[in-house]
Order: sequence, then C-alpha cells, then structure tokens
Amino acid sequence: MKVAVFSAKKYDQEAFSQWADTNLKFVYFESRLNLESVKLAQGCHAICAFVNDDLSAPVLTQLSAIGIEMIALRCAGFNNVDLTAAKELSIRVARVPAYSPEAVAEHTLAMMLTLNRKLHKAYNRVRDDNFSLEGLLGFNMHGKTVGLIGTGRIGLATARIIKGFGCKLLCYDVQEQPELAGHYTSLSQLYEQSDILSLHCPLTPQTHHMINANSLAQMKDGVMLINTSRGALIDTKAVINSLKSRKIGYLGLDVYEQEADIFFENLSEQMIDDDVFKRLLTFPNVLITGHQAFFTKEAMQQISQITSDNLVSYASGQLNGNELTH
Ligand code: NAI
Repeated sequence: MKVAVFSAKKYDQEAFSQWADTNLKFVYFESRLNLESVKLAQGCHAICAFVNDDLSAPVLTQLSAIGIEMIALRCAGFNNVDLTAAKELSIRVARVPAYSPEAVAEHTLAMMLTLNRKLHKAYNRVRDDNFSLEGLLGFNMHGKTVGLIGTGRIGLATARIIKGFGCKLLCYDVQEQPELAGHYTSLSQLYEQSDILSLHCPLTPQTHHMINANSLAQMKDGVMLINTSRGALIDTKAVINSLKSRKIGYLGLDVYEQEADIFFENLSEQMIDDDVFKRLLTFPNVLITGHQAFFTKEAMQQISQITSDNLVSYASGQLNGNELTH
C-alpha cells in the first residue's frame, strides 16, 4: 500500500522509514495537506496526516475523488477532521490514541518550572556573564494548588508528577478517573482555588474558548496558566487582557489557536503577520514552545509504529480499535 505522508519533516521520515516494507510504502511531502496539495496524493491508497493538516469536508471530497480510502492520523487529537464527511465518503480514519502521555506531561512540568524559576531568563543572563538574581524570584511548588482540566491519559500522567512535588491537586473532568478519586471538584472551584492551572482536555464545541473573560475573572490574581492541549481552548485576546491587568502571572503555551500558519516551520527570515501572537511574545512572563510537547524519542517511536499498524490493519481488512470511522 502506498501512503502519502503530509507535513513530513526529516524526523518523521526517520521514524516512519523503519516500518516501510514491501506492503507499506511511504511517499513524503513537506507540504501541509490542503485543497492545493491534495493532488500530491494521486496514485496513493492512503494518506498520513498531522495536527495542522486540513481534513475539512472539501479536502476530504477531493481525497475521495482521487481514490484515498484511508487516513492515518499520526496524532491523538482529531479536531481537524470532519468525521461526518469522512463517514459519508466512506473514508476510514484512524489515530494514535495513546503514545507516551508522559512526553506531554513532562513538557507541561518543564513549562511550569521554567516560568516559575525563570530558567529562560537565567540561561541568557549567565551566558552574558550576568549573575544577578534580581527578577528571578520563584516560588516553591510544594504546597501550591494545581488544577488539571481533563484527566485522561495526559492529565493522569501530569497528576502523578504533580503529586510527587507535594502540591495540592484539584481535578475536573466530565469522566472521573478512579485513581484520582477525592481530587475532583467543580470547574468554578478549580478556577477559584488553583495557583497553577493546566489544560488536558480535547478541543470540542464544549471546550472551545473555555478559558475566556468569564473563567479568567474567577481565577486567582497571578495564576499560572499552561496549555499543552489545543490552542482554541483559550480565547487568546481575553488572555492578553488578563496578562495586561496582571490577573495572569505566568502563561505557558505549547499550542496556539492560529498555530497552523506558523508552527513547525523556520520563519526566522520572514515576517509574521499574526499581531496577536507577536503581542503574546512581548510579555516577559509568557513562554511559548511550538507544539513540541509530544516530541520525544519514545513518543516518535510509538507514533510511527502505531500509525503503521493502523495502515496495515486497514490493508488487511481488519479493525484494531484505533479507528474513528470504519
Ligand atoms: P484523553 O482522551 O486520554 O483524555 C482527555 C480527557 O478530557 C478525558 O478524560 C475526557 O473525559 C476529558 N474531557 C472531555 N471533554 C471535557 C470537558 N468538556 N471538560 C473536561 N474534561 C473533558 O486524551 P489525552 O491523550 O490525555 O490528550 C489530551 C489532549 O492533549 C488531546 O486532545 C490533544 O489535544 C492534546 N495533545 C497535545 C499534544 C502536544 O504535543 N502538545 C500531544 C498529544 C495530545
């Protein structure tokens, strides 16, 4: 089976090439999948797509027209796929539901600690022979209240680390984890009591812009907000207002609502037109990484293996439980 891999970087090629064999042939395209690039998949039976590839109804219709029957997402989130349209077109969609949730959880903690202890500033200062501690004052994680919204695989992995720090853990989820019994509370209590708040729920119509002017107003002054989940969980303009009013004391983002236009590319020689993103970067207490929370050796190994297994299952007419449509 020939598979067109979109948004393919060198590290994707390295990870996927180990699973290629006579039955599974990958063709790599650097382009993001959209209406213009669909035609690159001509002659393939399946495509492999990533978080910012466009899998809206018009693109799916074009994919179907050139004979694509299977979409293997090499990620967990699937908010970029019109599943209704895929079903109507009889395109099978599979994802990688779980791959090293610890990768994202550990990056979440890295963001908390970097913001708290201002490691991003300390790194530059020391390289400049500036050993002053002015402005680097942090706080003990021990004893602080950490609120987690979403306690699935990544939220649970984050909760386990947070407990190790001696923090008080508050959780909110529409479906509770038995392992975290006793930690669940209402969303409003979690907003009111958390010193640090971290988002680990998927992007759905219910969670879109859940962090907005109303929810921010309920939070503690100086709260630390971390989002390693999906950009549109946050109303970025409301967050900028809360940074300006000092309501938010620290902001860590690995994802951004309009990231599709900027992330995963080296734009250092170009102009970035997104004024909201550029405004975020002006705050000294904002740390942004470019959707790298998943990016560990272990996660890449698992992602490429499970994605390849999903393609092989499809080719052999079997279901393996990772299907979103079949
Ligand atoms: P999961 O499906 O295991 O857990 C999601 C949890 O969110 C579930 O427990 C679910 O009940 C809960 N949830 C659903 N709707 C909710 C709501 N309205 N309010 C509160 N909780 C709600 O997913 P997993 O693997 O933990 O991933 C979470 C998210 O992390 C993904 O949806 C994805 O967007 C993001 N992600 C980000 C990565 C990165 O590199 N930055 C990598 C992988 C995932």
